[in-house]
Amino acid sequence: MSTLHGKTYVVTGASTGIGRSTAILLANAGAQVFAGVRNQDAANALEGESPNIRPLMLDVTNPDQIMEAAQTVSAAVKTRGLNGLINNAGMAVAAPLEFVPIDEFRYQIEVNLIGQVAVTQAFLPCLRAAKGRIINITSIGGRIAGRLLGAYHASKFAMEALTDTMRQELSPWGLQVVAIEPGEIATPIWITGTSYADRVMEKIPPQVTPMYGNEIEALRASAPSKAANGLPPEKVAAVIYRALTAARPKTRYLVGIDAQIGDKVFRLLPDRLRDYMIRRMM
Ligand SMILES: NC(=O)c1ccc[n+]([C@@H]2O[C@H](COP(=O)([O-])OP(=O)(O)OC[C@H]3O[C@@H](n4cnc5c(N)ncnc54)[C@H](OP(=O)(O)O)[C@@H]3O)[C@@H](O)[C@H]2O)c1
Repeated sequence: MSTLHGKTYVVTGASTGIGRSTAILLANAGAQVFAGVRNQDAANALEGESPNIRPLMLDVTNPDQIMEAAQTVSAAVKTRGLNGLINNAGMAVAAPLEFVPIDEFRYQIEVNLIGQVAVTQAFLPCLRAAKGRIINITSIGGRIAGRLLGAYHASKFAMEALTDTMRQELSPWGLQVVAIEPGEIATPIWITGTSYADRVMEKIPPQVTPMYGNEIEALRASAPSKAANGLPPEKVAAVIYRALTAARPKTRYLVGIDAQIGDKVFRLLPDRLRDYMIRRMM
């Protein structure tokens, strides 16, 4: 692994999972890492991992925190600029589109899409100074949409589109923009997603149960095995490292055999056959 001494990166959503692994990997390679967190416990835990990690209070839906975080990083990097922004923060709202509460749908888009744009805008002056890279953590769920996660898929499909536009708009200045598209990764998102889904379900009328109850239960029952058996988040961090350091990075990286197969096989199937297979798999 080449040294990243003298380089500076911002990772959003660094308290757990892919963001945390990425922050630690970059810090261990010698980079200074500003790690976005939402509470002091997460900040303390990350600071304990490496002296190169500096926590930033950064909820991507909070404009004041975004502005303060950008000012902090700008003051630290000065004219050297920022070498990379990893737009990783994210969450999943699970509910059938027929019933998903609109405020929850809006929050999903706010966190996974609008927040990413707001953060990117705030850090772009620093990124330009270093011809830095923007790494957007999307998902295979940004290429293939299944059931019950329509709000999440909408956010990730849209992030794929934004990544394509950003890449084209920023390339004249030498900035690279890359999408990382993981399959199932063993992170807390599966468990926090389940408890978030429980809260969402409390707002949904009871007729959801006879209509979608079996599927919802199946999704809930599969979460612990996904949290345990997915690829370790360090594998995604290693791909992010490649995207940050390759002389000519790919525009998108699928991570995991499930994502590769999903892309190669599922996307080629006729729509109704794919719908049938997804339903059988659930
Ligand atoms: N795990 C998978 O199978 C998988 C697959 C494809 C793509 N992804 C994507 O990978 C990214 C990281 O997810 P993960 O799997 O590593 O899950 P995770 O461990 O749950 O991490 C999610 C991170 O996002 C943060 N976050 C949530 N809402 C936020 C907000 N409003 N502002 C700032 N940070 C916020 C969380 O912070 P708190 O701890 O404060 O909540 C946490 O640090 C997400 O974009 C996810 O969609 C994951």
